[in-house]
Amino acid sequence: MKIIIVGTGYVGLPHAAVCAESGHEVYAYDIDEKRINAYKTGERKAIESYVNEPGLAAAIKETIDRYLFFTTDLASIIEGVDAVFMCLNTPPQRDGSSDLSYLSSAARDLGRALASREEKKRVVIVNKSTVPIGTARFVENILREEGAENFGVASNPEFLAQGNAVEGSRRPDRIVIGADTEEDFTILRRVYSQFVNHVRIQYLETTPETSESIKYMANSLLLTYISYWNGVGARLAESFDNIRMEDLKRGVTADSRISTWGSYVSNGAGGSCFGKDIQSLMYQLKTAGQNTDLLQSVYNINEYQKTYLVDRAIHEAGFNFNKKTVTILGLAFKKRTNDMRDSAALNAVETLLSKGVKEIRAYDPLATEPAQNYWFNPEKNYLFERITYHDTPRAALEGSDAVYISTDWEEFRGISRTIQTTVTPPYLVIDGRRMVPDYMSLVETGYDYLPVGGNLLRKA
Ligand code: UGA
Repeated sequence: MKIIIVGTGYVGLPHAAVCAESGHEVYAYDIDEKRINAYKTGERKAIESYVNEPGLAAAIKETIDRYLFFTTDLASIIEGVDAVFMCLNTPPQRDGSSDLSYLSSAARDLGRALASREEKKRVVIVNKSTVPIGTARFVENILREEGAENFGVASNPEFLAQGNAVEGSRRPDRIVIGADTEEDFTILRRVYSQFVNHVRIQYLETTPETSESIKYMANSLLLTYISYWNGVGARLAESFDNIRMEDLKRGVTADSRISTWGSYVSNGAGGSCFGKDIQSLMYQLKTAGQNTDLLQSVYNINEYQKTYLVDRAIHEAGFNFNKKTVTILGLAFKKRTNDMRDSAALNAVETLLSKGVKEIRAYDPLATEPAQNYWFNPEKNYLFERITYHDTPRAALEGSDAVYISTDWEEFRGISRTIQTTVTPPYLVIDGRRMVPDYMSLVETGYDYLPVGGNLLRKA
């Protein structure tokens, strides 16, 4: 099949590489020339400076110039195309609705290119990024206005988690296709031939609107699990003596009807998807006149969780942040990514600074540069001056009065030794990820330990 991928970010690039691996002729198109030139080199560093996903650079290297081609010239690749995947950003707007301007401008360019085809063979345009219900029709109208002929618009949402995009694309749980005609389903069955009739992969064909809804339902339910554990499970263990969080998790999730995913209590879920998608779903339901109390609570609990440990440090541990130095370990929204979008660390740092912290000493194995860029934002310059970045956890800990563990990087599991050999009590360890298995050794040597999902521990 001849496939075009429009948009080469976190969704488009892994999809392009994995489609090319399965032997299709894939053209990855983007209007950003710098990005395309970086990908064309086939070099790991250049690729990872845009999309950092395990296995991605290797997959591109394997297929580039044989099955996978990069271009900024849509007209030159349009002839004979079978399927076009639209993988564009749909950022949230203030009211929660999705900004479809990137998608619509790409659809206009595509519509013009399709109109110029010599042979008007059937082509399916597929919305792969998360888009509001009804967007397949919206794209269809744009393409028609631009003169495109003999096409269908389908929905095929992406369910991948960051850090697992390549493996996840090779072995997805399900493929969901929403289309209107048998002709379009047939084309997409050929694109995904390795997954049709697969024993372990659900291959679901439905309407475009159902397919669009599946993505919103799935992400909002995943965030509901997290908010249930953060807002109820962790709260229980923090309110009563002698509740063991890990046992609570094990006991509840031993029921085969209850998911274990989401039971990892944390300082709030971040990333570019959950917050955006649940807000968009609320907006869509409200617009349809529906009540969104449940979703609103899930969202609020998650946002509250991102700053709540700072409040607990003040009220439960009696810690006064004014003029103190605080180390933050982890800036990314989760381990194995440099992505800081909606990261709980952003809320923590801003709250800490608002409480009068003199200096924030930050460490993250991957996200220092994105953090510097974010906080170098001229509007936020006053924050920038009070944040310093360090190459190791030890360097970040030096001279601080408290540490806040924000990201679940595996390397933090051994942090209690580094703490004990770098800073001396009185000292507060705030653990937003339950990352310190030997926390009792900290407590016994006089450090205060305040974990999510547990009471403050302090030497008697
Ligand atoms: C999420 C979904 O998991 C994917 O299924 C979906 O396709 C994707 O959004 C998307 O819409 O593109 P992602 O944002 O990459 O994937 O990250 P997750 O691994 O789901 O983690 C999200 C946040 O929840 C992280 O901050 C993570 O640390 C946190 N989390 C996760 C918890 O706090 N507790 C948990 O038990 C699990």
